Amino acid sequence: MKKTIIKGTGRALAPRLVTNEDLAKIMDTTDEWIQQRTGIQQRYWVPEEGQMGASDLGLTASHKALEKAGWQPEEIDFIIFATLSPDIFFPGSGCLLAEKLGLTSTPALDIRQQCTGFLYGLATADSYIKSGLANKILVVGGEVHSSGLDKTTRGRDVAVLFGDGAAAVCVEGVKTDENIGVLASCLHADGRGADNLMTELPASRLPDRHPQGLPIDSERFFPSMNGPAVFKTAVRKLPQVTRETLEKAGVSLDDIDMVFPHQANLRINQAFAQFMKIDEARMFNNIQKYGNTTAASIPLALDEALEQGVVGKPGDTILFVGFGAGLTWGGVAYRF
Ligand code: UT7
Repeated sequence: MKKTIIKGTGRALAPRLVTNEDLAKIMDTTDEWIQQRTGIQQRYWVPEEGQMGASDLGLTASHKALEKAGWQPEEIDFIIFATLSPDIFFPGSGCLLAEKLGLTSTPALDIRQQCTGFLYGLATADSYIKSGLANKILVVGGEVHSSGLDKTTRGRDVAVLFGDGAAAVCVEGVKTDENIGVLASCLHADGRGADNLMTELPASRLPDRHPQGLPIDSERFFPSMNGPAVFKTAVRKLPQVTRETLEKAGVSLDDIDMVFPHQANLRINQAFAQFMKIDEARMFNNIQKYGNTTAASIPLALDEALEQGVVGKPGDTILFVGFGAGLTWGGVAYRF
């Protein structure tokens, strides 16, 4: 039977380092508030001039992942691009990335599942591989949030959280009897909570996507979040989906060498770890440096962990878990 194996990973951060102190100069916030509530110290944003979209960051990350996998772009037989901040309204960033990779007929699929996007992407890739529809798949999570944030005091509860970045993973179907690769995935969505975290406009459901008379700096054009409600739901759903994924994979939490939670808030991950009794050494967090990079956050953490050598040895078993807008949540268990 074919197993879905990670062959290479890569990451790309936007070039502009933005510290909490930098934000405190443009809105009423403090380094202390941001660190205390979220753990974030800095993030990277795209330049204020010129064009840099999710597919551009995705391209840099993809080149690195392809190099590690030893693949030429022409060998990719499917591209999956997870983003909530596509370069343009349509077509999707997957198509734009394919073009940048020099590919002219490789299928490309965009996934709009926000912080859980990479997990939806990885689970989709696993299904494509196991069903024989594709064998070498490039899964990318990429976001440019900064161009869409309200960087005034009005938007401070959201603006301080997000960073721009991308990460790519090459996965391949390999025939083996060993119990390795993607062991199990569990995905969920509950649209009843959609209003808790969303960007409403432009909205095609309205007769006029940009409602006439509404100023372009209306808060309806910016992401809005009921932070405490999202926080509470995340802390409830992450343990549930962890148990569900582990059970499906046939492994226990003790078998997990490293947990890679989505990086939305260090406090959420600490509460989750405490509740599940996962010691700090088995939790990979890097939100301090990058902020919340949404669909990129889990593969970005994986790429960093592989680079540091903290995971990746044959037999190492890891768990990805995420929660975010939709509301969506999910888990994937993987063994090297
Ligand atoms: O990745 C997608 C999923 N997203 C999440 O999981 C995020 C979940 N939510 C959170 O992480 C937290 O709710 C936040 C970090 C967004 C906010 O933390 P909080 O402890 O829930 O704060 P709060 O929203 O209850 O706001 C507390 C106070 C308010 O002031 P008052 O009303 O108490 O006077 C806010 O106006 O903090 C104020 N505030 C800020 N102050 C300084 C909100 N944002 C800021 C800010 N700087 N940036």
